[in-house]
Amino acid sequence: MKVLVTGGAGFIGSHTCVELLNNGYDVVVMDNFYNSSPDALEAIKKITGKDFKFYECDMLDYDGVDKIFSENEIDAVIHFAGLKAVGESVEKPLFYYHTNITGTLTLLKVMKKHNVKKIVFSSSATVYGMGNVAPFNESMPLSTTNPYGSTKLMIEDILRDVCVSDAEWHVALLRYFNPIGAHESGLIGERPNGIPNNLMPYVTMVAAGKLPCLSVYGDDYDTPDGTGVRDYIHVCDLAVGHILALKKIDDIKGARAYNLGTGNGVSVLELVHTFEKVNNIKVNYKIVDRRPGDIGTCYADATRAQTELGFKTTHSVEDMCKSSWEFIKNN
Ligand code: UFG
Repeated sequence: MKVLVTGGAGFIGSHTCVELLNNGYDVVVMDNFYNSSPDALEAIKKITGKDFKFYECDMLDYDGVDKIFSENEIDAVIHFAGLKAVGESVEKPLFYYHTNITGTLTLLKVMKKHNVKKIVFSSSATVYGMGNVAPFNESMPLSTTNPYGSTKLMIEDILRDVCVSDAEWHVALLRYFNPIGAHESGLIGERPNGIPNNLMPYVTMVAAGKLPCLSVYGDDYDTPDGTGVRDYIHVCDLAVGHILALKKIDDIKGARAYNLGTGNGVSVLELVHTFEKVNNIKVNYKIVDRRPGDIGTCYADATRAQTELGFKTTHSVEDMCKSSWEFIKNN
């Protein structure tokens, strides 16, 4: 089976390419390196000992995307490409809507033209909004609080509508919780541009002495230690989730959403203290006000992915903290 991976040089994309190649899939990668680098492609080859075709192409470029489908017999697409910084999306909504929405529409138009109707989409737990109580399940009402999240929800809606219009489409909407960690080789991982917004990249930069201190956003939530609780999932477990979705894609009727999380909540301070312990390194932190738009507790009801896809996570929070730090130390 030949799979086109959009955004294949990125954090989750690169780990998924490794998993695809290790499982015998034929892989074609497309990326514009906006938030990634060619090094990741070399690293994927080194880890797997396998080669694959690569196209430097922006998903807004209809002719460029069309060329990929003309030159390769693509069977299915895993669609990661897109902008993903919540704060930046509030500052640059037009950029976010144009890139993520128009880019995805362009991809879908080309897929339709070439009669490729199987897609695994990189969605997010952000679509559960602020009105639901954890654990979040796939049947809960959806809403968003920022342009980034809105693009994820709009793309889910677009894909649901496409499936209503044409029963030949098979769509898996994978709602990621909080992906962290890195491949055990230490060769691929998360490389944030500039000052990170997300917790783990920030923690690793403080540990590396590149930033002075982590701000913990609030210790007055209704959680065991008052700090925010999230469902951190190892990026290699997440990558496996994509393979399982691809294996089942023909059985998926229309568009079906799957949470990819562990089902366990971990607080900010638990994560920081685990990181310190397993890596034997100090992380300076201070408690500050809550970050606007944050919820106290977010974790998955992971039942559907378990029962329908056979998805099971295998990496502990300790593994996630160790491998995140290994990657930063090596790079
Ligand atoms: N946090 C801090 N300090 C920081 C950064 C984060 O205390 O410097 C806290 C947050 O308040 C939150 C937790 O750490 O309690 C996790 O925050 P992240 O920014 O790492 O992740 P979020 O859960 O806010 O958001 C992430 C992704 C979104 C996605 C969402 C889905 O960034 O893209 O999960 O649930 F939409």
